[in-house]
Amino acid sequence: MGRKFFVGGNWKCNGTVEEVKKIVTVLNEAEVPSEDIVEVVVSPPFVFLPLVKSLLRSDFQVAAQNCWIRRGGAFTGEISAEMLVNLGIPWVILGHSERRSLLAESNEFVGDKVAYALSQGLKVIACVGETLEQRESGSTMAVVAAQTKAIAGWDNIVLAYEPVWAIGTGKVATPAQAQEVHCELRKWLHDNAGDEVAASTRIIYGGSVNGANCKELTTQLDVDGFLVGGASLKPEFIDIIKSATVKKSA
Ligand code: PGA
Repeated sequence: MGRKFFVGGNWKCNGTVEEVKKIVTVLNEAEVPSEDIVEVVVSPPFVFLPLVKSLLRSDFQVAAQNCWIRRGGAFTGEISAEMLVNLGIPWVILGHSERRSLLAESNEFVGDKVAYALSQGLKVIACVGETLEQRESGSTMAVVAAQTKAIAGWDNIVLAYEPVWAIGTGKVATPAQAQEVHCELRKWLHDNAGDEVAASTRIIYGGSVNGANCKELTTQLDVDGFLVGGASLKPEFIDIIKSATVKKSA
């Protein structure tokens, strides 16, 4: 199938120039598996994107954490996909649960953002995931399917399954819980976007991934990598990148 392992680091709204430089130094000095084994993408806040891009090793890429839904213009405070392309930023994270819940981004709004970002040539890390309430009421699959349905253009999308209850809580999904949803999502892709898309789309897990729990998650058949928040600001992010070799030999 040849789905290359993918590790994203979502720095969220964190960092000073000094801290960002330190993180980049750690990344630049790390010995990690080669580019044909793992794709590494780090996502600093907008204001640090040019700095990180200029300092970061060339085998790692950068992503923005959001972009505007359509062409730029009179949209105070927004950053357009064209601007990201102009700066040479190849990736953007869209539909993160923090934006869905805190900024009320609907499935349709996220879907339109994905479509516009793709139309401008960006690659997208699209996030889906259920709340604890939704999981406990048995609607996990219905929720993530509805979120996924709004998204199209799979050739340039990495799908991140991030259960909301696992994000920033230290409460990681068990490998079986992650595999169950990833497998269902792959089935959904198969039924709705075809065989090839299902076989080639990377489905990565996010939610309290750290250097200690990543290896076990990696062994799951449909876990093709991670989207990492808190631990991506720490040196253990390197261990998470290295878990690609566990996958390779599994
Ligand atoms: P976390 O965040 O690793 O801090 O739980 C993951 C994410 O929000 O992408």
